[in-house]
Amino acid sequence: MTERLLVTGATGTVGDPLVRALADRDASVRVATRSPEHARDAFGDGPEPVAFDLGRPETWGAALAGVDRLFLLYPPGSAVSDVREFADAADRVGVEHVVFLSILGAEKFPVLPHRRIERHLAGTGMDHTFLRASWFAQNLSEIHRREIVERDEIFVPAGDGVLSFTDARDVAAVAARALTESGHADRAYDLTGPAALDFEEVAEIFAAVLDRPIAYADPSRLTFARQMYERGFSPGFVAFMTAEYSVVRLGRSGRTTGDVEAVLGRPPRTVREFVADYADEFRP
Ligand SMILES: NC(=O)c1ccc[n+]([C@@H]2O[C@H](COP(=O)([O-])OP(=O)(O)OC[C@H]3O[C@@H](n4cnc5c(N)ncnc54)[C@H](OP(=O)(O)O)[C@@H]3O)[C@@H](O)[C@H]2O)c1
Repeated sequence: MTERLLVTGATGTVGDPLVRALADRDASVRVATRSPEHARDAFGDGPEPVAFDLGRPETWGAALAGVDRLFLLYPPGSAVSDVREFADAADRVGVEHVVFLSILGAEKFPVLPHRRIERHLAGTGMDHTFLRASWFAQNLSEIHRREIVERDEIFVPAGDGVLSFTDARDVAAVAARALTESGHADRAYDLTGPAALDFEEVAEIFAAVLDRPIAYADPSRLTFARQMYERGFSPGFVAFMTAEYSVVRLGRSGRTTGDVEAVLGRPPRTVREFVADYADEFRP
């Protein structure tokens, strides 16, 4: 019998390519979003949009009705308690398997929201798969695009630190497998790209692919925070990004693993492939 899948965060960086990847699979897909109209425009008639807001439990019942497997994420800024209570509701109505988007290294940080959610999920009756992803290459287009387009500059305060950039499309591909195949129950995958790169190397890749000079600015953390704030990012997000880049500066973000290849049977996408695929977004 065709299984019904519920994708939360379906309009997001991983959720969107996940919904598209699931179109090829024998599954009935319901996309959970606060903007069902937008989802209908984005995904067409295939998947079924449902109004869903973690902060409004009255939307949970319709989203979860008849669902066998769930893709769950922790929307930045949401309450951990809402995610936990939603997971309990999913367990109660008979969801069998939850695939949760987490963060690389989460197991080492007990107070991290993602780790607290992982521990809660492991205590439910559902099978679980944790996708512990490293920093998405898509942050370069979603957060840092403007400086690249307007100033030919990668403007992040990461010093000489390296990052094992993962492509969100690979995370989505792994999620699609975990949601539709057996063998992923009660597993955690550490999802990274194939290499750890510093931002000088990233700038060189941008310059080569876009065929124009792109520099790595490496501003101080204060200058970075001030500029992000002036660009309209919220104080909480600016603080989060600045803290993230502080970890990168310390050299803690370069671990690479073979988990993407082990699940997908092909190597993870490189930053060069990402820049080439998104090149139009980076042109002035
Ligand atoms: N960015 C990275 O490098 C990275 C790396 C590893 C892990 N992660 C984790 O991945 C997760 C997603 O982060 P992201 O930055 O990529 O965001 P995102 O998935 O691109 O966007 C957030 C998603 O959450 C949904 N959402 C927001 N508020 C909601 C609410 N109250 N109820 C239901 N859905 C809500 C939004 O859907 P609608 O607006 O359609 O409702 C949107 O699809 C986070 O937990 C993050 O920590 C991120």
